[in-house]
Amino acid sequence: MDKIKIVGGNRLQGSVILSGSKNAALPILVSSLLTAEECTYERVPNLQDIEFILRVLGELGAEIDGELDDGTVKVKCEEIDQVEAPYDLVRKMRASVLVLGPLLARFGEAKVSLPGGCAIGARPINFHLEGLKALGAQIELQEGYVIAKCKRLKGNRVTFPFPSVGATEHLMMAASLAQGETVLENCAREPEIVNLGETLNKMGVKLEGAGEETIRIQGRDSLNGGRFRIMADRIEAGTYLTAGFITQGKVKVEGLEPIHLEAVLKVFEKAGARISRGKESIELEAQGLARGTPITTEPFPGFPTDMQAQFMALMCVAQGESEITETIFENRFMHVSELTRLGADVSTKGNVAVVRGVHTLNGAPLMATDLRASASLIVAGLVAKGETVVSRVYHLDRGYERLEEKLSALGANIERLKETT
Ligand code: EPZ
Repeated sequence: MDKIKIVGGNRLQGSVILSGSKNAALPILVSSLLTAEECTYERVPNLQDIEFILRVLGELGAEIDGELDDGTVKVKCEEIDQVEAPYDLVRKMRASVLVLGPLLARFGEAKVSLPGGCAIGARPINFHLEGLKALGAQIELQEGYVIAKCKRLKGNRVTFPFPSVGATEHLMMAASLAQGETVLENCAREPEIVNLGETLNKMGVKLEGAGEETIRIQGRDSLNGGRFRIMADRIEAGTYLTAGFITQGKVKVEGLEPIHLEAVLKVFEKAGARISRGKESIELEAQGLARGTPITTEPFPGFPTDMQAQFMALMCVAQGESEITETIFENRFMHVSELTRLGADVSTKGNVAVVRGVHTLNGAPLMATDLRASASLIVAGLVAKGETVVSRVYHLDRGYERLEEKLSALGANIERLKETT
């Protein structure tokens, strides 16, 4: 397993061209199952999770064409000869469970393994299944699999108990081929939902309200393919801006509308950074050390849970104290024990972490546990004195394209240690 070695202390400056969003690309690539026509996707990020979802689609019979390194991928789900997504695939990448609704909507049946939990929480899919049942699906759970059947889904009103991103995306796709109108209420409002909504509308669905609490979908008998563009990755953007802030540098990220990260930008400003907002760019210029600033993670437009770990690293060397409250996942403080190995002063009680800024962090060997926790360790390593080596960086490779290249282009002293054996 590869490792990443950082020697801290360099001030980062320069600009980063953002990759496509992992969390937009995953559901949008799955939406190709809704049509037999060819779908061409642009700005698809070259990530392990993306390779994985393409493998899942391939196993179902999809024709996949295109190299991820140039960001354009063609998917044609004309010859789908399989409606089962097996455990050994789904357990490795939870978003694979999203194939259930599109397979059911198009072919009347689907068998998909329950994804199981992951490092950050149990992550059940009950809202997804309740929603599909409301559209008329018969759902059975057998030996860890969801078996779904329905001749033709019928539009209905579905109210989510919580604005779940995955459940909202899942039902948007299933409703696209249902008969009649579906009204989804208490929807997630993340920008990735809007990107999926745009995609489905281009495929011929009449969908209104993506990005708002209520989404209305007029289902169609069939959908067309087309050419679709993935939005920039706002969490990648937030991660690089945090790296610029923690090293008291000046970093610009290009390709993203600032509104997609506004809650984070406001917190950075409260913590003392100067933020310049362009049409599709954001520049952060540190004005010295960050000030301790409290955050509470919330569904969009609140502070995103996917930025909590990276922000905590910044607070570890801030002036003063900050209180970080995680309200979305029940176990998303896995980075705390690793940050304390660098000399950070963090204490947690339930879903609240109190961070007292320290003057110096000292490099140490660290272990990544989940995607965003790993990013947090890299960010902390950029200022820790001496050498920090993060192992199990496969977690990082799931969600960050060419991370060490992009950081070294900003001036970081970082390199990937390829596993020899
Ligand atoms: C998406 O996960 C993202 N993943 C996550 O990003 C992100 O952290 C999360 O949304 C919140 O923004 C992708 O888009 C692929 P949820 P998702 O359904 O859809 C509970 C990353 O690092 N819940 O909004 O799984 C759930 O347990 C990843 O890129 C139910 O109880 O998130 C959680 O506590 C990590 N029942 C809360 O809702 C359900 O049926 C929010 O989950 C569904 C969710």
